[in-house]
Amino acid sequence: MAEKTAILHIEGREAIELPILNGSIGPDVVDVRALGANGYFTYDPGFVATAACESAITYIDGNQGILLHRGYPIDQLANNADYLEVCYILLYGEVPTRAQYESFLETVTRHTMVHEQIASFFHGFRRDAHPMAIMCGVVGALAAFYHDSLDINADEHREIAAYRLLSKMPTLAAMCYKYSIGQPFIYPRNDLDYAENFIHMMFSTPCEEYEVNPVIARAMDKIFILHADHEQNASTSTVRLAGSSGANPFACIAAGIASLWGPAHGGANEACLRMLEEIGSVDNIPEYIERAKDKDDPFRLMGFGHRVYKNYDPRATVMRNACHEVLKELDIEDPLLDVAMELERIALSDAYFIEKKLYPNVDFYSGIILKAIGIPVSMFTVIFAMSRTIGWIAHWNEMHGDPDNRIGRPRQLYTGAKRRDFRSMEERELCPEEPEQIMA
Ligand code: SDX
Repeated sequence: MAEKTAILHIEGREAIELPILNGSIGPDVVDVRALGANGYFTYDPGFVATAACESAITYIDGNQGILLHRGYPIDQLANNADYLEVCYILLYGEVPTRAQYESFLETVTRHTMVHEQIASFFHGFRRDAHPMAIMCGVVGALAAFYHDSLDINADEHREIAAYRLLSKMPTLAAMCYKYSIGQPFIYPRNDLDYAENFIHMMFSTPCEEYEVNPVIARAMDKIFILHADHEQNASTSTVRLAGSSGANPFACIAAGIASLWGPAHGGANEACLRMLEEIGSVDNIPEYIERAKDKDDPFRLMGFGHRVYKNYDPRATVMRNACHEVLKELDIEDPLLDVAMELERIALSDAYFIEKKLYPNVDFYSGIILKAIGIPVSMFTVIFAMSRTIGWIAHWNEMHGDPDNRIGRPRQLYTGAKRRDFRSMEERELCPEEPEQIMA
C-alpha cells in the first residue's frame, strides 16, 4: 500500500525510511513500525496523532464536521434508518436486504432475556449504587454464563456474542433503573421494537398496561443511532486493547463501559445536565463562561469541545432538532433548555471558544432530551453505553478479523531513576546518603 516514504534524518545516524500508507479517505499515515528496530519509539500522549489500527467502520473529519458509518452520513442514517438497521450496517458493512433485516431483528429479539441468576447479581448492590457501577459488574458477569461457549477465533461464536450483547444491554440497563427505584424488573416483549422495548422495560409496571409514546420511542431510537459508534474514541480503544489479549467479549465490553463512564467522555452528558442545573439561570451564565476560561479553575463547560471535532459535531445538530421535537411533542417548557440555548449562543460568539474551536458536542443536547423523556440523570451514561455497544462490538470483531491483529503493548519514554543498588535499612541508617552509582 506504500507509494511514498518519509525519511527520518537523525543527527549522526543513517536516515530511516518510513513507508507512508494511505486509506480510502482522510489523512495518510506514516508507518513507524521500523523505528523500534532502529532503537526509537514515537511519543504521543493521548494518541492525538496516532493511528492505532486500520478500520473500515467509521470515518470522522473533525474540521469538516463529517461522520460516516460505512460511508453513510450520520444525519441521513439518523433521519431515515432505525437503530437496528444501523447496527447491521456497522457489523456487516453493507445495508441489509429486507430479508436480512428481518432475520437480524428476529435474532436480536430472541436474545433480549437475561439468565434469571443475573437478577440476583443486582441484589448484591445498594439501591443507590450508580447504575454505571452496576453495568460494569453485570455486563462483565455475562462472561460467567457464556465463557465456555466462546471461541473468539470462530466467526460464528463472535457473531452470537455480538447478538447477545446487543440484545441484552437494554434489558440490563432497564433493570438498573428498576432496581434503583425499588420496582420489579420488567421482562422484554417480543412484540415491541428495540427502542419501544427499552422504554417499556423502563417505565411500565405489572399493575397496568403501559402505552409507549411513538414520538419518545423515535427520539430514543435516534439517540441510540447518534451514539452508536465514533471511530477510535477512548472507550472503543479500551475495548480493542482489552480484546487484543484474547479476552472474553463480555469482559471487553465491561472495560469499555468503565472507560465511557469518565466525565471527559461518555459521562459528559450526565455532567452537562448537572452543570446546567448548577448554573440554574441565564443570568449566571457569564460567571461560568469566565470560570471555563480560567486556567486556574478546573471547571469546564461540559458538553463543549471535542478531541476531533474542531467544527460543529454533526450529531449535535441532529440531536438539537430532536430535542426541540420532543419538547414540543411533550409540551415541556424546560428552563434548563433556555439555559442551554443561551449558553450555546454565548459560547459560540465568545472569542475564547471560537479560538479554541469549542463547539457543543453530542452530549450537550442528549441530556436535555433524556431528562424530558423522564430518564434520571444517573442513567444518561448507561444509555450512551447501551447505544455504543454495537460500535464496540463491531471494532472488536473487526480487530479479530484483521491478520495484522496482535496484542496491544505500547512503550514509554522512561524518566525514572537509573540503575542503583538497593541498601538494607541498617546500611541506610549507617550511611543515609546514597553513594554515587558507578554504573550507568
Ligand atoms: C465524547 O472521542 C470521542 O469521539 C468521544 C465521543 C464519542 O462519541 O465517543 O465523541 C463522546 O466523549 C464527547 C466529549 C464529551 N466531553 C465533554 O463534553 C467534557 C468537556 N470537554 C473537554 O473535557 C474536552 O473538550 C475534551 C476532553 C472533550 C477534549 O479534550 P482534548 O482534545 O484533550 O482538548 P484539551 O483538553 O487539550 O483542550 C484544548 C483546549 C485547552 O485549553 P489550552 O490548554 O489549550 O489553553 O481547550 C480547552 C482546554 O482548557 N477546553 C475547554 C473545554 N474543552 C477544552 N475549555 C472550557 N470548556 C471546555 N469544555
